[in-house]
Amino acid sequence: MYQKFKTSIAYTKNLFVTGAISQSCRSVEIEICRYIPKEDHKIIVEFGMGHGNITREILNNMAPNSKLYAFEVNKSFCDHVCESITDERLVIINDGAENIKKHIQEEVHSVIASMPLSFFSKEKQVGIIQDVYDVLANDAYYTHSLYSKIPFKKFQKIFDSCYIEKIKDNIPTAYVYHCKKVQ
Ligand SMILES: C[S@@+](CC[C@H](N)C(=O)[O-])C[C@H]1O[C@@H](n2cnc3c(N)ncnc32)[C@H](O)[C@@H]1O
Repeated sequence: MYQKFKTSIAYTKNLFVTGAISQSCRSVEIEICRYIPKEDHKIIVEFGMGHGNITREILNNMAPNSKLYAFEVNKSFCDHVCESITDERLVIINDGAENIKKHIQEEVHSVIASMPLSFFSKEKQVGIIQDVYDVLANDAYYTHSLYSKIPFKKFQKIFDSCYIEKIKDNIPTAYVYHCKKVQ
């Protein structure tokens, strides 16, 4: 409880970058991990790690020999997770989602995101969605939790199959976008 309170203070202090005053609720943590592949040797990417609540859930859902690359722009959030999660499968990248191609040359089997995409310029939003599509394996999912349904059309223009799960437990209501690449 005390840790959640500390996380809320850290997110609120950085509101224009975090886009949130508290971490995602338990239902979002579960829903966002729906399509994480459980098979061996998979590459998973997270955007917007924050204090690592979803990071933990991803690690709990993936195989012991898979790898998670977690992107986070805030250095102190990276340091926090580095100190609080000890797991050899986790690689923390202190950089933005928009630079995914700079850091990852392998084929990716799942992308999980919770950064505030709506705050970005249209060009940056479309650039990230397209880059994710490019690096994803066939039949893999890009799942993004947002507080708005407005950016959904941008995902539909690039991805082959998309739907939204509404999570009312979250404050504010969260919309988890599940977008699949089918080639
Ligand atoms: C709403 S918080 C989500 C934290 C946590 N994953 C959760 O769901 O509770 C959004 C996070 O995205 C990070 N962020 C913002 N812009 C980013 C970007 N371009 N690339 C990666 N992370 C970014 C923020 O610093 C913040 O930690």
